[in-house]
Amino acid sequence: MNVEALDLSAFQDYLTRHEQKSLLRFLTCGSVDDGKSTLIGRLLYDTKLLFEDQLASLERDSRKHGTVGEDIDFALLVDGLEAEREQGITIDVAYRFFATDLRKFIVADTPGHEQYTRNMATGASNSDLAVILVDSRQGILPQTRRHSYIVSLLGIQHVVLAVNKIDLMEYSKEVFDKIVAEYTEFARDLGFKTLQAIPLSARFGDNVLDKGPNMPWYDGPTLVQHLESVDVAEDRLSQSFRMPVQWVNRPNLDFRGFSGTIASGLVKPGDPIVVAKSGRTSTVKSIVTMDGDLEEAGAGEAVTLTLADEIDISRGDVLATPEDRPDVSDQFAAELIWMSDEEMLPGRAYLLKMGSKTVTATVTEIKHKVDINTFNKLAAKKLSLNEVAVVNLALSEPVAFDPYSENRDTGSFILIDRLTNLTLGAGMVEFGLRRADNIHWQALDVTKQARAEAKGQKPVVLWFTGLSGAGKSTVANLVEKMLHVEGRHTYTLDGDNVRHGLNKDLGFTDADRVENIRRVSEAARLFVDAGLIVLVSFISPFRSERRMARDLMEAGEFIEIYVNTPIEIAEQRDPKGLYKKARAGQIKNFTGIDSPYEEPENAEIVLTSGSKTPEELASEVVAYLKSNGYA
Ligand code: ADX
Repeated sequence: MNVEALDLSAFQDYLTRHEQKSLLRFLTCGSVDDGKSTLIGRLLYDTKLLFEDQLASLERDSRKHGTVGEDIDFALLVDGLEAEREQGITIDVAYRFFATDLRKFIVADTPGHEQYTRNMATGASNSDLAVILVDSRQGILPQTRRHSYIVSLLGIQHVVLAVNKIDLMEYSKEVFDKIVAEYTEFARDLGFKTLQAIPLSARFGDNVLDKGPNMPWYDGPTLVQHLESVDVAEDRLSQSFRMPVQWVNRPNLDFRGFSGTIASGLVKPGDPIVVAKSGRTSTVKSIVTMDGDLEEAGAGEAVTLTLADEIDISRGDVLATPEDRPDVSDQFAAELIWMSDEEMLPGRAYLLKMGSKTVTATVTEIKHKVDINTFNKLAAKKLSLNEVAVVNLALSEPVAFDPYSENRDTGSFILIDRLTNLTLGAGMVEFGLRRADNIHWQALDVTKQARAEAKGQKPVVLWFTGLSGAGKSTVANLVEKMLHVEGRHTYTLDGDNVRHGLNKDLGFTDADRVENIRRVSEAARLFVDAGLIVLVSFISPFRSERRMARDLMEAGEFIEIYVNTPIEIAEQRDPKGLYKKARAGQIKNFTGIDSPYEEPENAEIVLTSGSKTPEELASEVVAYLKSNGYA
């Protein structure tokens, strides 16, 4: 380029305009066949941000792989950029950038296959608008409804219904009108602020950037015109100030700053702030950034705040305006989207990450599941992949939050698997549960320690796990007798017995077993608090719940004893005749047959049954207790 020939002032002008252009983030939803990739390719192509060499190679590839004859296959452009074309589907969320004279755009391309809720939730978390594609030959499909529902659930208020492939329906107004009428009727309950339907042909470009000659009957905006002009300002700046603290910045003794991205509102030096959870207050002294101190900062900016007072603040705290504080609670109601092949079971412990805070959480109740095709409310005991429900959650400690309808940042969370660290679900807080505010821990004067000392012993849980018929109860019974003889105060919680009373409402589905173990863990904790040595003898087949039981107790209060009896031996013994029934199909979900048993990985004691007598195994346990100071 000849630098002298450049009109510098015009160039400056262009740059300034580009900088000041507003940014619209949107996502596209639809399946592979709806023409989504073609549409995105067309947008990029028509807005002329493609590089010449990309175009050249596209023309070459179209001739090689394309499915549209002599024309450029725009789907190859988008898929090709990700080198995913061999797979035939786009596999993860991809972000593309383009700009027109009026606006800049970031489009999240989320695939519509099986894991669609995960991808959509990823793509939607920052989007203000959704383009929902339908193939005009197909009309509104169940997936159109599902995608729309998820979009509304994720708080997106602006929707474009892109009625694509209208060229294949002879650019028919009737076809378009019928689809729009059906969709409008369906979307009425979803509460979108704007809904713009556009008939278009991504392949030939009609109504994408320009109108084209084929649909004189359509007098609405083209897709690009609409995207350029739609007003999506959610006005996060005018909302109350919120900043989750990402980290405490303390390079030396003279400086202590709190770093994070402002989730909503504005902040200036001199503003009063409160730490949501502790209620401590201070005022903002300065707003520090890489480029110097600021007079003011707002939503979306990453800053470090210094405060006038030395108050206790750590990672995960939320700084807020004292005039409008976030809620603080350890229980709330939320909408939950489940994104994992592994089922969500109430009572199972997950990690909950909200902003920069991570705590342990369980779903205490599924209030109802939502059929996302009909919006009907359904009863449910568990959630499977892509299912949505309204649930109550209980957290291991209180967190600060806002309802999602008020703040998409401080009102959303994800649930994570404690062992694999995979994201399992995404949630949106509806409201805090008042019952949590009204139940306070009652401090008692006679403590666990006092009760234990009176008995002259160290309270502990001896957790026996293993298959049915492994010998857990037999060994536990002998251990208890040996301890009793020595004057120890003990109690045994046995699966069969507890299922006669406290847990008589529970069966043997995964969900019921999780609840079974949750209850018996809580009961065991109370007995430990009473100063007792508690023997728990439950199959407890899942690692996750045994881990939860362990985490409920204090360090040194949980001894896992794996009664390792091969299934062949247990089945041969078959003391209650249950294996026989299970083999005959008379009992469902029988552990080891059609329900899994997950072996312990870090049991304190492993008892290898089979070659030893129950007495010998019980002695091993007592010996362990003696050498570790419990008995
Ligand atoms: S757990 O899996 O939820 O921990 P728990 O120890 O309470 O099981 O109960 C197991 C006992 O219930 C077994 O010892 C057996 O007597 C009885 N039982 C009845 N049906 C089943 C089943 N489907 N699977 C396993 N045990 C069963």
